[in-house]
Amino acid sequence: MRRTVDWVDGAIVIIDQVALPGEYRTLTLRTVTELVEAIQRLAVRGAPALGAAGALGVALAAYAGDVRGERTADVRNRQAADARNDAGHTTDIRKEARRIARARPTAVNLAWGVQRALDHLHQGPAAVLAEAKAMLDEDERRNRAASEAAAEVVLSHCGRRPLRLLTHCNTGHLATVAWGTALGVVWHLHERGLVESVLVDETRPLLQGSRLTAWELERAGVPYRVQADGAAASAMARGLVDCVLVGADRIAANGDVANKIGTYSLAIAAAYHGVPFVVVAPTSTVDESLATGADIAIEERSNSELTEFAATQIAPDGAHAFNPAFDVTPAQLITAVVTEDGVRTPKS
Ligand code: MRU
Repeated sequence: MRRTVDWVDGAIVIIDQVALPGEYRTLTLRTVTELVEAIQRLAVRGAPALGAAGALGVALAAYAGDVRGERTADVRNRQAADARNDAGHTTDIRKEARRIARARPTAVNLAWGVQRALDHLHQGPAAVLAEAKAMLDEDERRNRAASEAAAEVVLSHCGRRPLRLLTHCNTGHLATVAWGTALGVVWHLHERGLVESVLVDETRPLLQGSRLTAWELERAGVPYRVQADGAAASAMARGLVDCVLVGADRIAANGDVANKIGTYSLAIAAAYHGVPFVVVAPTSTVDESLATGADIAIEERSNSELTEFAATQIAPDGAHAFNPAFDVTPAQLITAVVTEDGVRTPKS
């Protein structure tokens, strides 16, 4: 599969995650406005993929600002104009970068990716782009390493072979530049013949599990079943789950983890049933500036994601919705948080 997010001929090219699983197609984003819109309607989503998209977005803004700067610099008092333009278009590019970073608030990777690219702005657009491209390469390397380490953690906590795993949301190739985090663990274990099956939470309300994770597992030939999110605790009670594997959108300094809504209930159920609960993420998802998960900004999305289904109204006229996109799982409920730098075991 091509990279989820890439730079092709001066534009950002993404796999359109809204069209899947019906259609596998790409979208070309040529402006910051197009990128912000794609991020907000989840055409590109998943914390590591958002980091990459954010960095490439700064490159888009930097090249656009550079073109405007050159045009206006063609006047008599060249030096003064250059100074004015430099300050002016740098400010404009920074404003555009802020717009990208704020497109979604919870996954720290987005603001992190934007800032890393922005740190190279003083060297010009080519340097910004080079940094963003390096981040794309890094993303796959880091996620492969984190998920390989997490596979060992899973094997050390679970005696049964082959394994029956449960996952929430989409943490695969599509949520990263390539490979995946929690689903990356499934790829590693499947390569070794160690996966019996995967239970895939459909992940209400936007169905990243049944639309995207199921699509990736189907392509990879990994046996799986989609289940309603509400079935997860019951699957654990029946002894059908050896380990729960999830990704993260932001990990606070104390090990609390923000991830897709429903993760917290999964962790409670897993703790109750003695099922290991493993979080896998690149270090770019760790936010040491926040002491605990209580400080993490949780994105609230529109009513219609719950009051409508496939554009058909399913709730009464005037129904209000509670629609947080993420929740926070306290560190005490987590068996291990695994990044490419190592394993943290908050529970013990
Ligand atoms: O709203 P989304 O689809 O962007 O939410 C994504 C998740 O919650 C993922 O689990 C998380 O970003 C980790 S992806 C490797």
